Amino acid sequence: MSKINYYSSKDNLDKKVIILRLDLNVPIINDTIQDSTRIDLTIPFLKKLSKLNKKIIIISHLGRPEKNNKKKFSLLPVFNYIKKIFKDKISFYDGNIDNNLTKKIDNLKYGDLLLLENIRFFEGEEQNDLNFAKKLSSLGEVYINDAFSCSHRKQASVHGIATFMINRYAGPLFKSEVEAIDSVLKNKKKPVTCIIGGSKVSTKIEVISNLIKNVENIILVGAMANNFHYRTGRKVGKSMLEKNAGETVGKILRMFKDNSCKLYLPEDCSVAKSKEGTKIDKDFSSIEDDDIILDIGPKTIIGIKKIIDNSNTVLWNGPAGYFENNEFAKGTYEIAEKISENSRGKSLISVLGGGDTVSAINGINKNLLFSHLSTAGGAFLDYLKGKDLPGVSVLKY
Ligand code: 3PG
Repeated sequence: MSKINYYSSKDNLDKKVIILRLDLNVPIINDTIQDSTRIDLTIPFLKKLSKLNKKIIIISHLGRPEKNNKKKFSLLPVFNYIKKIFKDKISFYDGNIDNNLTKKIDNLKYGDLLLLENIRFFEGEEQNDLNFAKKLSSLGEVYINDAFSCSHRKQASVHGIATFMINRYAGPLFKSEVEAIDSVLKNKKKPVTCIIGGSKVSTKIEVISNLIKNVENIILVGAMANNFHYRTGRKVGKSMLEKNAGETVGKILRMFKDNSCKLYLPEDCSVAKSKEGTKIDKDFSSIEDDDIILDIGPKTIIGIKKIIDNSNTVLWNGPAGYFENNEFAKGTYEIAEKISENSRGKSLISVLGGGDTVSAINGINKNLLFSHLSTAGGAFLDYLKGKDLPGVSVLKY
């Protein structure tokens, strides 16, 4: 079976110019970075390559630029942030991919870094144009993709470029993301439990379908679970339901029957009359027509904690309730704290991913510990679906 080619500093000591694809796509408002996690995680590898005396050409995208509003999507704020660490060793290039750039690279000192402006400003990137990809590949001798979170995109700096490079590798962050998800799907310490939440079942159907075949327990929480309650005859009041989800839910329930994976649905819930309301814990039988389910209830929290206690691996994607209102954050926070406690004390392997899950955890003012907190959104889900991601397969030998 082909394997991903991971970069090791022992490789290509003679090759000096490295093209490094990073994911520096961070939230920026008025030139101020709102969350620097993705950048911070790249710094150790940048320092390592710089120490190895490489010239490092950094490529990244930022957002989804609109043709007439490029300024908002400039990587300049990211450059200014990294410059505080690398000082004069790093420079910024916002010109074309042409001889000027080649000259600039020739003039770099070994150990220097050069960040290119948002690669999505260039025509050809998003279309995976092979002429553009070839041009990019000519900038260096080694290509390293350390942006797993972009590897579900078949774009020039993620896919096309690698097809022109003999020396192509995945970097250390990429490796940690793949190994974390593989610890749930492939090299697993059983029993494996997946907690899947969020609002829409339609966006998670492929993930759940693939997990059913690979893990021992699946816990469904969040507004998504309402569709399952409704289908199985429970009252859900005025809670969020997805249109036409019946067929999808039926399909998932049939899959559970055909596989040995156990399904756990919330036993009770916290409701209110509006998202801003005050919560009341209820069993499903006492839900009123104008109640909205906004969190899992206390019996469910105990049930989920028991399952976590009996698991050796837990994957969690999607909050358990409307955590944006503290009143309904209890389920999400209690799950997070339990997973952290067992990761610390019982060597539980814990993999957490998805934008909302990470934001929810960031809201907890405690020192939590997880084996892996993914910074990938779409790529994390696509890999969980069992898909062959274009940016991953192109690095396999
Ligand atoms: C992400 O934030 O998930 C990655 O940077 C990919 O961004 P994209 O969805 O705009 O391709």
